[in-house]
Amino acid sequence: SEKRVYKIATIPGDGIGVEITEAAIQVLDKLAAVDGTFSFQWNEFDWSSKNFKERGWYMPPDGMEQLKKFNAIYFGAVGWPDVADHISLWGLILPIRNSMNQYVNVRPTRILRGITSPLSQCAKQPRDLDWVIVRENSEGEYAGQGGTTHGHTPHAVATEVSIFTRVGIERIMRFAFDTAKLRPRKKLTMVTKSNAQRHGMVLWDTIFHEVAKEYPDITWDKMLVDAMTVRMVNQPQTLDTIVATNLHADILSDLAAALSGSIGIAPSSNLDPTRGCPSMFEPIHGSAPDIAGKGIANPVGAFWSAAEMVRWLGNGELDHVADGLMEAIEKVTETGVKTRDLAGSSNTKEVTEAVCKEIEVVL
Ligand code: NAI
Ligand code: MG
Repeated sequence: SEKRVYKIATIPGDGIGVEITEAAIQVLDKLAAVDGTFSFQWNEFDWSSKNFKERGWYMPPDGMEQLKKFNAIYFGAVGWPDVADHISLWGLILPIRNSMNQYVNVRPTRILRGITSPLSQCAKQPRDLDWVIVRENSEGEYAGQGGTTHGHTPHAVATEVSIFTRVGIERIMRFAFDTAKLRPRKKLTMVTKSNAQRHGMVLWDTIFHEVAKEYPDITWDKMLVDAMTVRMVNQPQTLDTIVATNLHADILSDLAAALSGSIGIAPSSNLDPTRGCPSMFEPIHGSAPDIAGKGIANPVGAFWSAAEMVRWLGNGELDHVADGLMEAIEKVTETGVKTRDLAGSSNTKEVTEAVCKEIEVVL
């Protein structure tokens, strides 16, 4: 049969984003070569903070139109110390998530083989920490509404307005329940802060209860976000699928990554579940200026994100390939080929080559 070609836009961005994107492409090309039924056509976009300093823009005016032509977007990281972080985030990644209708951000976390969790007391076995965080990715606290008045005076006033809509909440809740339904434990925990925040968060609660009625086979419970941090540390085995707002899930997923061993292993998928626009895949970490250029960034989060991209592109037909990549990654972590953030001594290149070698064995 004919070989499928997936057209992928890559945006390596800044710092270690460039290093891990290169590693991810190498692994994905290997995966395609060994599988043989599909291939990737890469198209790199040099949208970064360095080029912003020179050109004055992150994306050209027709940037979104260009991205729409691809099957998916692979993103490294954006942000550099000489550009304010709100400028870089709002210059590149947030407008892509918004314009591409990527209203869900999926962040799985588990303890991969050979990796020690700092929670060894509570998570005695890897399966004691196996979560999927479903993050609302289009509104909430990152809706971008607000403003500044008297900015440069002692009277400075700034507002940051959260936006919660019925449509936005309903669709994220449905996605979260559908995700929970596919997991063995069929369990969903909804995170909120509806004691102190009495409007948006109460609407969030109300719609959750409405949608829950459509999913009688899912067990659910509800947590306030502050108490949730305690439960994640003390009783990780009681959690499975988690749904939270843009800000809450952003914070909880960094905690989740640290609890599973390192921020360097955590993946994320920015999905347009309607498949009308390309979805975007990226590790959750940033550009890590402190280690950029040294060749020591952990590429595992980038590889896991790549596996999720393959799963999404295949839409049910490439799950075995995505699973194969995950197995190759875990074979490598298990044998101790790990970067320094995981107390190993290998560099990015060594981990990448080890994963490529395992792909040949596993697939
Ligand atoms: P960061 O994730 O870049 O780094 C936090 C710490 O984790 C650093 O010590 C770093 O060395 C370490 N780390 C991160 N990824 C690693 C990896 N793959 N391997 C080994 N160690 C790793 O977060 P930080 O420092 O808060 O942000 C740096 C820049 O990145 C900022 O400009 C920020 O705005 C941006 N950023 C961008 C994101 C994105 O593009 N989606 C997400 C988070 C931050
Ligand atoms: Mg974050």
